[in-house]
This record gives sequence, structure tokens and C-alpha cells, in this order.
Amino acid sequence: MRKTLLTTLTLAVIASIIYSCQNADELKQQMYYTNGRDLYIKHCQNCHGANGEGLGKLAPPLTDTLFLKQNKQKLACLIKNGSDTTVTIHNQTYEGKMPDNPQLFNIDIAQLIVYITNTYGNKQGIYKPEQVTEDLKNCR
Ligand code: HEC
Repeated sequence: MRKTLLTTLTLAVIASIIYSCQNADELKQQMYYTNGRDLYIKHCQNCHGANGEGLGKLAPPLTDTLFLKQNKQKLACLIKNGSDTTVTIHNQTYEGKMPDNPQLFNIDIAQLIVYITNTYGNKQGIYKPEQVTEDLKNCR
């Protein structure tokens, strides 16, 4: 009887620890998302639109969830250094030039990535500044 009680208590403690960790990550994700949205409005919306719809042939939309998933590790470099290649989004090619953002800190970039990968139909979860540091080592 005592053993069962002890096991139950231990399990309850473990469960509550796991639960609060998840909550901490969720809270962080919400905070990043909100800050990311502000940064997006300031630095990105002119071209990519209020709803990520893009700007005609000049700027691609951010609604291609597959592209954003497959290229997630390249997003930090793209945001920091801009891009002058050709991208194919929803079967449409875009050849415009995206400007660089050298003034952005890694935390800003993480927040922007959390925003764009969790909105406009995307749902990719948290992305942390440590990951930005890693991804920026592999810029081409
Ligand atoms: C002056 C217009 C402009 C601004 C401002 C701009 N972009 Fe872009 N963006 C582009 C263009 C043009 C491309 C296509 C680049 C290429 O062809 O190499 C692009 C490509 C992208 C892509 C990859 C393709 C896609 O549609 O998923 C992402 C992600 C992206 N931009 C995010 C951002 C974010 C985040 C910001 C703000 C920090 C931003 N952009 C600011 C013009 C812009």
C-alpha cells in the first residue's frame, strides 16, 4: 500500500515536471511568435505581404509549407544575408533579390523564423537562437 502511494506520488511529480517544461517551451514559442510578428511587419511585410501572400512576381509568398520545411536550416542565412538565386514556390519561379539584414541579432532571427514557420498555414513549432548560431555557420 505504501509502495503504491509512493509510486503514485513519484509519477505525479515527474508528470508535473514534464508538464511545466512543456509549458515553458510553449510560453517561449508564444513570446517568440509575437515578437517575430512585430519584426516581420517592420522588415518583411513590404515585400511578403500582411498575410504572407508575396508581391506579384517580385516577392514569393511564404505559404509554401513544404518549401519552408525543407529549407528550414537555410532560413537563418537567407534572412541575415539576403538571397539572389532563384526559388520555386508553389511551382512558380522567383528571381528577384531579397535584401540582407545584417543588423538583426540571432534572437531576432529565431523569432522571425518562429513566426514565419508557424503562420500562413505553417506549424513547425519552436526554433531557438542556438539553432540560428549553428545554421549561420553553414551559409554559402
Ligand atoms: C525587398 C523585398 C524583400 C524583403 C524586404 C524581404 N524579402 Fe524575403 N524574399 C524576397 C525575394 C525577392 C525572395 C526570392 C529570393 C531569391 O529568388 O533568391 C525572397 C525569399 C524569401 C524566402 C524564401 C522563399 C519563400 O517564399 O519561402 C523567405 C523564407 C523569405 N524571403 C523571408 C523573408 C523574411 C523573414 C524577411 C524579413 C526579415 C524578408 N524575407 C524580407 C524579397 C524580400
